[in-house]
Amino acid sequence: MLIQTLDDTHDRAGFESGVDALDRYFRTQASQDVRRRVASCFVLVEGDLTPLAFSTLARTSIALSNLPATLTKRLPRYPVVPATLLGRLAVDRRHRGRRLGEHMLLDAFARALRSEITTFAILVDAKDEAAGAFYRAYDFLPLDNAGRRLFLPMAEVARLFA
Ligand SMILES: CC(C)(COP(=O)(O)OP(=O)(O)OC[C@H]1O[C@@H](n2cnc3c(N)ncnc32)[C@H](O)[C@@H]1OP(=O)(O)O)[C@@H](O)C(=O)NCCC(=O)NCCS
Repeated sequence: MLIQTLDDTHDRAGFESGVDALDRYFRTQASQDVRRRVASCFVLVEGDLTPLAFSTLARTSIALSNLPATLTKRLPRYPVVPATLLGRLAVDRRHRGRRLGEHMLLDAFARALRSEITTFAILVDAKDEAAGAFYRAYDFLPLDNAGRRLFLPMAEVARLFA
């Protein structure tokens, strides 16, 4: 299994995560976002170049006022801190339960951690309760009251890789 940056050799037509919005994005918009440098897209392939999973990463920021006081008390009084947005993560439904989601998540952690431009946390938007449960299992914490926007401090990610 390999994780590659998305390019025109990847055949995305048959990808089915079971979530229409994610599939549509992957088929029709992901490569434009890459070309326009607004997101990076990574695909997991096995054997041929048929994607089994994909993720997107981009830069964003978190308002300091949204973070818990336990974390902000050690931070400078900047209005926002930089974050890595794991905007989308999906596994083809025929390949669920093979830990590919976990593999893509750890890959996103590793990419964020080794970037020369540091970020304070990884941010995700869980599209539903099941996605939220997936991220909470990896110690993501809610950033809003609805619990859909979650974050994981990069210090925790670094500990995971130590
Ligand atoms: C969520 C998703 C990425 C998980 O991928 P996967 O390859 O099936 O999951 P994995 O095999 O890597 O599972 C890793 C762990 O997460 C758990 N898990 C997987 N899907 C889960 C879900 N929907 N809810 C809660 N836990 C979940 C697994 O049980 C496993 O836990 P374990 O360590 O206790 O065994 C995949 O189901 C998916 O693409 N869903 C549709 C799109 C989506 O919801 N994306 C999330 C971002 S919006």
